[in-house]
Amino acid sequence: MKVHFVVLLLLISCFATASYAHNVHLSTLNQSLIVSASATTGQVLKAGFDTITITWAYNTNLTVPDTNYTTVEAKLCYAPVSQTGRDDRKTDDNLDLDKTCPFDITEEPYKRSNNTFIWTIPRDTPSATYFVRVYVINTKKHETAYGQTTDAAKTTNLFKIDGVVNEQKASAAWSVFGNSFGNRYAWLVMLILML
Ligand SMILES: *[C@@H]1O[C@H](CO)[C@@H](O)[C@H](O)[C@H]1NC(C)=O
Ligand SMILES: *[C@@H]1O[C@H](CO)[C@@H](O)[C@H](O)[C@H]1NC(C)=O
Ligand SMILES: *[C@@H]1O[C@H](CO)[C@@H](O)[C@H](O)[C@H]1NC(C)=O
Ligand SMILES: *[C@@H]1O[C@H](CO)[C@@H](O)[C@H](O)[C@H]1NC(C)=O
Repeated sequence: MKVHFVVLLLLISCFATASYAHNVHLSTLNQSLIVSASATTGQVLKAGFDTITITWAYNTNLTVPDTNYTTVEAKLCYAPVSQTGRDDRKTDDNLDLDKTCPFDITEEPYKRSNNTFIWTIPRDTPSATYFVRVYVINTKKHETAYGQTTDAAKTTNLFKIDGVVNEQKASAAWSVFGNSFGNRYAWLVMLILML
């Protein structure tokens, strides 16, 4: 009984920490992190194979207090060129509705400097143009600051990921299916069909 209760609590706490945004708007956050990625402008990286080294640090030129910074969340984000005509990737200033950065890279405790993370690009990452954004989470579990590898207009330091998985040289029907729904949904449908 007690064990079940603990498991339940753990599950609840997982869900509770899984989403941070609560009507927080990106435009109200301080851009207090300097973020860089090893991927160079226009570079094409292979999903499932290549790595990106991401570094971030507090911008010591600022006077923004970082006393309530607890966690950082690094995310892979679609560049505008890969968002056109795609409502499912749309940018919204309200982070609850924003679909710019759907891919989690890492979540780490906040440190002022010396932060490095080497990320192997997951195999199911869609082919697109990207940048990296790192959010700072505060003691209230809300986004409170951020930094990104690109400029405000999201036009500089963009890199590409080639998401074509070699093993998927299957039928043309499969590739059409995969492209229109995204690999994640395709796998979900496959799973449901198999059950
Ligand atoms: C911080 O300020 C110094 C001196 O003005 C400048 O050289 C440096 O580039 C600034 N750093 C950042 C990250 O803005
Ligand atoms: C942004 O920084 C200012 C000080 O420069 C501070 O007063 C304000 O609370 C900060 N905003 C957030 C959302 O942390
Ligand atoms: C940090 O959090 C405490 C408690 O919520 C709050 O009183 C304080 O103003 C916060 N400090 C900053 C710099 O945001
Ligand atoms: C950063 O890491 C290096 C090497 O591990 C260390 O020598 C240095 O003191 C660290 N700097 C800070 C500010 O933690």
